[in-house]
Amino acid sequence: MKTSWKFFTSVCILLFLLGSCSVYQNHCLADAQEDAIVMMTLQLDASNVTRRPIPDTLFGIFFEEINHAGAGGLWAELVSNRGFEAGGQNIPSNIWPWSIIGDESSVYVVTDRSSCFERNKIALKMEVLCDSIGSSNTCPSGGVGVYNPGYWGMNIEEGKKYNVVFFVRSTGDIDLSVSFTSSNGSLTLASENIKALASEVSNWTRRELILEANGTDNGARLQFTTTKKGLIWFDQVSAIPMDTYKGHGFRNDLIQMMIDLKPRFLRFPGGCFVEGDWLGNAFRWKETVGAWEERPGHYGDVWKYWTDDGLGHFEFFQLAEDIGAAPVWVFNNGISHNDQVETQNVMPFVQEALDGIEFARGDANSTWGSVRAAMGHPEPFELKYVAVGNEDCGMPYYRGNYLEFYDAIKKTYPDIKIISNCDASSQPLDHPADYFDYHIYTLASDLYVRSHDFDNTPRNGPKAFVSEYAVNKTDANTGNLLAALGEAAFLLGLEKNSDVVGMVSYAPLFVNTNDRRWIPDAIVFNSSHLYGTPSYWVQQFFTESSGATLLNSTLMGNSSIVKASAISFQTNGKDYIQIKAVNIGEKSIYLDVAVTRSIAKFYLFKKKVLTSTNVMDENSFSNPEMIVPQESLMEMTEEDDLMFVLPPHSLSSFDLKDSANIIKMPLAEPYKKTSTI
Ligand code: AHR
Repeated sequence: MKTSWKFFTSVCILLFLLGSCSVYQNHCLADAQEDAIVMMTLQLDASNVTRRPIPDTLFGIFFEEINHAGAGGLWAELVSNRGFEAGGQNIPSNIWPWSIIGDESSVYVVTDRSSCFERNKIALKMEVLCDSIGSSNTCPSGGVGVYNPGYWGMNIEEGKKYNVVFFVRSTGDIDLSVSFTSSNGSLTLASENIKALASEVSNWTRRELILEANGTDNGARLQFTTTKKGLIWFDQVSAIPMDTYKGHGFRNDLIQMMIDLKPRFLRFPGGCFVEGDWLGNAFRWKETVGAWEERPGHYGDVWKYWTDDGLGHFEFFQLAEDIGAAPVWVFNNGISHNDQVETQNVMPFVQEALDGIEFARGDANSTWGSVRAAMGHPEPFELKYVAVGNEDCGMPYYRGNYLEFYDAIKKTYPDIKIISNCDASSQPLDHPADYFDYHIYTLASDLYVRSHDFDNTPRNGPKAFVSEYAVNKTDANTGNLLAALGEAAFLLGLEKNSDVVGMVSYAPLFVNTNDRRWIPDAIVFNSSHLYGTPSYWVQQFFTESSGATLLNSTLMGNSSIVKASAISFQTNGKDYIQIKAVNIGEKSIYLDVAVTRSIAKFYLFKKKVLTSTNVMDENSFSNPEMIVPQESLMEMTEEDDLMFVLPPHSLSSFDLKDSANIIKMPLAEPYKKTSTI
C-alpha cells in the first residue's frame, strides 16, 4: 500500500488544530494510524484496454401517478375534481373537494347528468335562492356559490397570471364573480366579473379569463359567487398558471428537479397505477387523450384517489420530450391485482397497446397519429420501449398474454424494445424479451450487498431494467441518509454491471406530503415548496454515467463498508475521470487511488460529498438542504498523490482531469453549498 508523508503531515496538522491529538506530532501520527486512519486503495486502470461503454440509457426516471405525483403535483392544474365526476356517476353525487358558500336559505347545490360532454355527464347545478339588495331574501354581501380548494390549497402568487376556463349554463342572466381568495375566503387575491344575458348562456358556453394575483397565498381557493337569484350549471372548471414548463402544463419547480437528474428515459405512468386493483380502475390510455374537458377521469383504486387525467397519454410523451428522455410506456396487459383477462380474450388489450403505440409514433394521417397531431404534436414521439404490464409475472395468464403482445408489437414495430415483468437476473427467461423488469425495495444493508445482484447474470440474455429500487421501511423513515447510502452502493454495482443492466430508475419519484401513500420518495413537495431527499441527491451523482465509459477498478480493502467505481466521461470536449465511493462505516476512510496510465498525470478538479452528522438525518421543509451534495474545487500539484478522504456515512465523487485541461469552473447552481478544501 502506498502512503504519503505529505498526506500524513496534513492529517496530523488537521487533528492538531482540532485539538483532538497530543501536541507531540509523532504521537499524533501514531494514534491516527492505529485508531482513526483506515486506508484503502482503488487500483484504477485508465488505459484503453479494459474500458467498457456504459449504455446511453442507463439512468432515468420512473414517474408514477402515486402520492399525487401528477394530479396535485407535476401537472399544474389547480382545480381538483374539475368535472365533478369524482363522486361517481350516480346522482346526486358527492362534489368533494368543492364546497358551498352560503347556507340552505340562500343556495342549493346538487349534481345532475346534464353536461354537454358525453364521456363525463355529471355537472354541478346551483340554485341561488337569495337575491340582490332589496329582495326579501338578500344574499350575503360576498355572495353565495361554490369554491374549490385545489389539492390542499392552491399556490397563488402575487404578480402571476392564471388561465381560468369553465363551462356554464343558466336559465336566466348571470352575474358571477370568479376569484382566487385566501383559504377562508376572507382575502381576495384576484377577481373578475362575468356577466351574460340568458340568451348567451341558455346552452352550455365556454368562458375563459385570465386572473392576475395581487397577493400571495399557498393555500388559496378558486370560487364562483353571485348575488343574483337563479339557476346556474357549471362543468369542467380549470385554473392553470400561465407560467408552466414550455407552456405544456408542468409545474416549473418540480420538472426542474427531474431535468437536473439528466434522465435518459422516462418510465410512465406506473407501477400499480397501470394495473389497478381491478381492471375497471386501471389506467386506460384512450380515456386520457383528446380535449381535456372531454376526458372522463378515473379513480386509481391502488393509490386511492381520483385523477381528472389532465396528465394523460399525450402529456406523458410530451413530458419525456421536454426533459430530453426516451419514453418507456408501461401498458396494462389485461391483468390487475384482482382480476385478469384470459389469454384467449386478450386481443382487445393487444389492439389497445398497438393503437397507443400508433398514437405516439404513427404519422399524422394515421388513425391514432391524427389524434396526436390534433393535440398539437404532428411529429411522432420517439417511442422505442414498452413494458408489458407491471409486476405481473406471477399471474396465471401473464406469459400467455405477454406472448400475444410481444408477437403483435414485434410484427408491426420490430425496432421497439419489449420489457418483460419476469426476472432473469439469475436464470434465463422462458420467453423472448429485450429487457426484463427488476424491482427491489429492501433494507439498506440488504441493498448494499445486492450491488452484486447482476454479477452472475447471463450476458447473452435480455438486459435488466431495474425500473424500481429503493431502501424502505424503518431504515428509510421518510427518506434519510442511511437509505441513500444503501442505494448508492447498489447503483455502483449496477454501473459496474452495465453490460447487462441497461436501465435504472428509483421509485417513487414524487410525494405530495398531503397524501403520503408510499414512503420514502425522491422529491417531496406541497403546493409551493419542495426538497430532494438524500435518495434524490444520490441519483445526482450518476448524471455523468449514462453514455460514459466504465473503467476497470479494484478496491483493495474492506468492501463491507466501502464500495467504489470509476468512469471516464467527456464534457465540453474535455476528458474526465470520475471516482465515486460510498463509505457506510462510522470512520473516515482514506482512499488512495492508484492510476495505471501511461500518459499525463490526473489532477483533482472537483470533489462532491453527501453526508450528515447522523445517518438517520433527513431533509425537511424547514431544513431542505441539510443533506445535499457539498461541492468544492481543488487543484493539486505535481507531487500530490490521489489520496482522498471518505467521511463516515458518505457518498463522494472526485472528478479528475489531466493538467492540460485545468480551468476553474464557476459552480453557480443554487442548491450547491460550495466550500474550499
Ligand atoms: O413504487 C411504488 C410501487 O411499488 C409501484 O407502483 C409498484 O410497481 C411497486 O410495487
